[in-house]
Amino acid sequence: MDQKVILITGASGGMGGAISTLFSTENVKLALQYNRNKVKLETCENVAHFQADLTDELQVSELIERVLLKFGRIDVLINNAGVSHSAMSWKTEASSWKETMAINLDAPFFLSKHVTPHFRAKKSGRIINITSVVAQTGFVGTAAYAASKAGLIGLTKTLSKELVSSGITVNALALGYFNVGMIEDVPADLQEQIIRTIPAGRLGDPKSVFKTIKWLVSDEGDYITGQTINLNGGLYS
Ligand SMILES: NC(=O)c1ccc[n+]([C@@H]2O[C@H](COP(=O)([O-])OP(=O)(O)OC[C@H]3O[C@@H](n4cnc5c(N)ncnc54)[C@H](OP(=O)(O)O)[C@@H]3O)[C@@H](O)[C@H]2O)c1
Repeated sequence: MDQKVILITGASGGMGGAISTLFSTENVKLALQYNRNKVKLETCENVAHFQADLTDELQVSELIERVLLKFGRIDVLINNAGVSHSAMSWKTEASSWKETMAINLDAPFFLSKHVTPHFRAKKSGRIINITSVVAQTGFVGTAAYAASKAGLIGLTKTLSKELVSSGITVNALALGYFNVGMIEDVPADLQEQIIRTIPAGRLGDPKSVFKTIKWLVSDEGDYITGQTINLNGGLYS
């Protein structure tokens, strides 16, 4: 991994925490963003923590500057921070809709926008956006979440076209249901129901997310851009 500097947002959460830990065994430097909760992976020479509310563009631009100050460069941005509030569309409050959009869609846009000048100057960079199968299939009670994650796929496609000539690739990973993070808020009986709908018959493991990102950010990944790669155990193809 050649001492790549990887900025992972939402590193205090289930998926962000799991992929941070997996990356920490590689030859990389990790800039781990959190907001309200602590990051479990401890700081060391190659691991630093950065607090930021990513819904605030100023905090995002300052975050990019702080990471550059600490590590001198950024090679990979993983837009992983996200929220999901369950409610039927007709009961979804405007505040909940706006918060979901702000974290799931505005924040990846702000981060991409503010890291791009650095990526363009060095003519390389990788952006990975974490989206969801729910954007592709819809799911009852997830209007704001599904819309925000579908927006992220559109953002991925446009950024890929704008940035590929500068040596920057932008891809999305559309995750099915995984055994960490948000799933912990889902009641056990609903989890069972969900698992029954997955052709693989089980929840996903963050290792597959880690390995897919590792491949996308490797030299072999330099011709792959604008793609939404599905990691969902056969739930949607
Ligand atoms: N787990 C799954 O099965 C699954 C499936 C499909 C897609 N995904 C996607 O995977 C990503 C990670 O999900 P997860 O399961 O790990 O969820 P999670 O455990 O709830 O973690 C969410 C993360 O987002 C951060 N965050 C929330 N609001 C923020 C804000 N305003 N500014 C900065 N950071 C903020 C949280 O930071 P703090 O806790 O520090 O506030 C936390 O680190 C999300 O984009 C989610 O949509 C997950």
